[in-house]
Amino acid sequence: MVAVAIDGPSGAGKSTIAKAAAKQLGLIYVDTGALYRTVGYAMAREGTNLDDEDAVKQVLSRIRVTFSYDEQGSQRVYLNGEDVSEKIRTPEMSMMASRVSALSSVRVFLLDLQRDTAKRQSVIMDGRDIGTVVLPDADVKIFLTASPQIRAKRRHQELVEKGQQVTFEEVLNDVLQRDYNDSHREIAPLKQADDAVLLDTSGYTLEKSIEEVVRIIKEAAPCSIK
Ligand code: DC
Repeated sequence: MVAVAIDGPSGAGKSTIAKAAAKQLGLIYVDTGALYRTVGYAMAREGTNLDDEDAVKQVLSRIRVTFSYDEQGSQRVYLNGEDVSEKIRTPEMSMMASRVSALSSVRVFLLDLQRDTAKRQSVIMDGRDIGTVVLPDADVKIFLTASPQIRAKRRHQELVEKGQQVTFEEVLNDVLQRDYNDSHREIAPLKQADDAVLLDTSGYTLEKSIEEVVRIIKEAAPCSIK
């Protein structure tokens, strides 16, 4: 069994890179951001006041977040059994996820699900606090980053390709706002683990980034990888 933790700010390419590396190495890829997005979606749908701790806990007591993998190996997420994989991929849900992820009750709610997943199989798990909080004993830890401008450019391209009408400036503002939220919250802030390898992909193509991640993992956990 091997556990790989990949953390970093939004838009660093974590999910694309981690997914491709997992495929090459025969590991399960776990996108934990999708779990926070699903909780954010639930709160948005219920119109929950996020400043009201009891109201948040109330919603958490009524929801079940689960995930599985389709034939292509893509992760699907479910809210009380409903597939919400596409609905959580909007700029609004990005912001909701960032907001709910600052709440301790939400982080506690998702912790066991993440840890249990890594106990049952070999994983590459991506998020913000995987190497620091969720899997502090992970075999390999990578902190993946890129400059805010590069990250915003990549995300803007992605959203435009999906047919969403957003300007580069809007996306850049979102990226900066989320960076600030994610790294300044009190609980489990976005932070490089002391024993994580730092990988800045600003000057890299996607292929080169994947190659580097695979190389780091193979080097750090040679006997556990196929
Ligand atoms: O990776 P993503 O953009 O889908 O994540 C959405 C939000 O969820 C992000 O703003 C921070 C939060 N998040 C978190 O706090 N901890 C994680 N392990 C994963 C995501």
